[in-house]
Amino acid sequence: MDEYENSTSLVEYNVVEAFQFINGRRYQNSNEPIYMLPIDNIEAERLRKVHCLMRLIFKGNFSSPIEEALKSGGVKVLDIGCGSGAWIMDLSTENSSSTFVGIDMVPIFPKKCPTNAAFLQCNVLDGIPFPDATFDFVHQRSLRLAFTLENWKATIDDILRVTKPGGWVEFCELDLCIRNMGPTLRKILNGATQYHAGVGVEPYVVPFLKHILAKTDKLKEIYFVETSTPFGSWGGKLGEMTFDLMVEEIQGMNPFITPILEVTNEKFSKMIGELETESNDYETSFRYIRWFGQKKEY
Ligand SMILES: C[S@@+](CC[C@H](N)C(=O)[O-])C[C@H]1O[C@@H](n2cnc3c(N)ncnc32)[C@H](O)[C@@H]1O
Repeated sequence: MDEYENSTSLVEYNVVEAFQFINGRRYQNSNEPIYMLPIDNIEAERLRKVHCLMRLIFKGNFSSPIEEALKSGGVKVLDIGCGSGAWIMDLSTENSSSTFVGIDMVPIFPKKCPTNAAFLQCNVLDGIPFPDATFDFVHQRSLRLAFTLENWKATIDDILRVTKPGGWVEFCELDLCIRNMGPTLRKILNGATQYHAGVGVEPYVVPFLKHILAKTDKLKEIYFVETSTPFGSWGGKLGEMTFDLMVEEIQGMNPFITPILEVTNEKFSKMIGELETESNDYETSFRYIRWFGQKKEY
């Protein structure tokens, strides 16, 4: 059993109120926009692999120019919606003189972590529980299935509030305008889009993000890095890895998508099975994007 295995503090958490259990997976149960991915140890394991994929395709854990400051020490870093905590674990291990905090609404982060790191359970939509100008670097990755556009604006304002003047903020998201999409993937994506439209979540946030950041007028400049990632074995090992992790994500959406598509679990599994050939025939690919910027000093 590795150190993460028992990372979910179910005992400390009111599981009856907070979660619903469907097809053996654990999901959020709340009045807020319902986050459609499972929140359990299986998902934490998937997120750790996605973290490795992100590090590989971006050739590093972040794009903001803070490497030297992190190594020098004394830098305070916050990760919003930290999930498995893999990003915080990597950075805190590599930069032992800086301080790292990960926050997530569900404690799927590790219980054990380096002494310069901490994890905190909180819903970021209730406000980030830190005073103004606390952090030198605030990072947020893959929250596109969790926020309405209003949530995005409020969270970005709050992130900039807790960032020190001269500090850096960074966001990373998958662009759902997928290249060379085949009919089955399109059908599944349409099902997810319909679900999100019903609960107000905006998964197609990529085209808005730069605009929302610019509107705050709190950043000196907004930079971005874009990567293209193959989906399917047509793209070699990287394509296979992306495919497997994305298919696992789609499988996790089953309880919310099957009623919309009006298909049984078996039919949904069959559709997922078709994706392998389809993605190779179409040479489907995804775009991950990072935006980052430095908070103005005044
Ligand atoms: C797709 S995962 C990404 C995790 C991590 N950022 C990564 O890149 O590996 C999204 C995470 O956001 C968390 N989340 C969703 N809504 C949240 C909220 N309102 N407040 C805090 N965390 C939230 C989920 O629990 C989940 O762990």
